[in-house]
Amino acid sequence: MHTVAMHSQIPVPWWRRGAFYQVYIRSFADGNGDGTGDIAGIRSRLPKLASLSVDAIWINPWYPSPLNDGGYDVTDYVDINPLYGNLDEAKALIAEATDHGIKVMVDLVPNHTSSAHRWFGEALAASPGSPERDRYVFRDGTGPDGGLPPNNWRSVFGGSTWTRVPDGQRYLHLFDPSQPDLNWENPTVRDAFHDILRFWLDLGACGFRVDVAHGLAKDQTFPDIDHDADDADETDQDRVLARGAHPHWDRDDVHDIIRGWRTVLDEYPDTVMVAEAWVANWDRLARYLRADEFHQVFDFDFLEADWDASQMRHAIVTSLDGAASVGAVPTWVLSNHDVVRHATRYALPPGTRSKTWLLDGDRNDIDDALGLRRARAAALLMLALPGSIYLYQGEELGLPEVYDLPVEVLDDPVWTRSGHTEKGRDGCWVPIPWTDDAPSAGFGSVEPWLPQPPGWSAFATASNTDPSSTLDLYRRALELRRIHMTKDEDLEWLDLGADVVAFHRGSGVACVVNMSTSEVPLPAGEVLVASGPITDGKLATDCSAWILV
Ligand code: NOJ
Repeated sequence: MHTVAMHSQIPVPWWRRGAFYQVYIRSFADGNGDGTGDIAGIRSRLPKLASLSVDAIWINPWYPSPLNDGGYDVTDYVDINPLYGNLDEAKALIAEATDHGIKVMVDLVPNHTSSAHRWFGEALAASPGSPERDRYVFRDGTGPDGGLPPNNWRSVFGGSTWTRVPDGQRYLHLFDPSQPDLNWENPTVRDAFHDILRFWLDLGACGFRVDVAHGLAKDQTFPDIDHDADDADETDQDRVLARGAHPHWDRDDVHDIIRGWRTVLDEYPDTVMVAEAWVANWDRLARYLRADEFHQVFDFDFLEADWDASQMRHAIVTSLDGAASVGAVPTWVLSNHDVVRHATRYALPPGTRSKTWLLDGDRNDIDDALGLRRARAAALLMLALPGSIYLYQGEELGLPEVYDLPVEVLDDPVWTRSGHTEKGRDGCWVPIPWTDDAPSAGFGSVEPWLPQPPGWSAFATASNTDPSSTLDLYRRALELRRIHMTKDEDLEWLDLGADVVAFHRGSGVACVVNMSTSEVPLPAGEVLVASGPITDGKLATDCSAWILV
């Protein structure tokens, strides 16, 4: 039995068992008819969000930005991109969301600014060694005439992490050249971010999703990375990462920065901070979850597990144990704006690397109906687990990845920076369909910024008319989750066969996920909700059910 000791006299904070909904703002709903989602669009859809029984929404970066990387290139951390609205609208959104019982979480982007940020302009205008340059990571080139980069680090989006400026120095960017890394060794940077946190908390935000939380601290000797070893044997890199010895990922000194933020959040009751941290294992991840650091960390092992009972069980057990080691619970997630939607991942043959498949995989490999069936089942699995959960907009409609967007419309810098060897993330950013009787499937009144594929409105139609729709399943499960799944943090495994993930929650509900190829008999009891057919007490393959036992 997995039990997390909680002192009964201490009330459980809301976020510990909360349901969060991710709003990718430019693709959620277009309120002002310019083809891009905005704050007005979110406000108009608040009743829909409330009907899903979510506790909070996390809004992807909404700051002024050239949008080279979807807004993860910020030019002003205390304002709103005019494309999305303004600060008054943000305040109105927070107030209206509160009336619907929904809190609003902001996306904090501390690793880098946009190259169009005032600070970067000042750095370029100033000379090497100046305080202005010291807010970023500038270094001289190497080699006889300084013509080589300071080291061989590779950007996540492809190419070197160093870009040369006219006077010969180079600046570091772990991502796109338009995203210069900040220098977190510099107290000015640390102080500025404390002010940014206070700005949004004073405005009423409930907290922050923190971008690239594992990337802020860099080895100040800037050593080369042994890429040959990485390429030859991925486990080599894993070993380096697991020791905390990588020059720029998951270094131990990052925790000092995080503790500083937590001190600020602790001044504001009921606030929450969730980390995006891609690290080697739960031993490393649990450090971010310590009592004076993040409240939550996304569980990417669960997201990355194949549709396979032993992989899923392993991911769940490791996460429960890892989180429990620091008195916390996991934060489960199946999709987000950076990964191939899970209805498509689960539609591919076992072992397919979905990101590679996007580019040039065999389209005959995909079984959409199977993917949707499994995605519905996965939702019931996730919503039954102890801890908090994050939904990605559109998964409640069963949306698949739009993998065949024409390359001319791709906006993700990954496509260009990788030299067209990675297709990028546009396929999960396609604007949401809301109805089938309006232009752009109800997303807005004009053509959306990224095209919707033919038949996209069918996902909305099904949701609005079919009582067994995926939306209906999510609504019911989220409502039931509040009643049955958030009372306690216990989980007891049930043995219903090697290919069945089954467990019992302390509150008296069993969750059964049938990943086998045949029907599975369910435990006796009342079926509260099921993602697919139950015949004579037997659950169909690739389906889940919750039973009140
Ligand atoms: C992680 C974000 O989720 C992703 O969308 C972004 O491109 C990178 N961080 C860089 O900010």
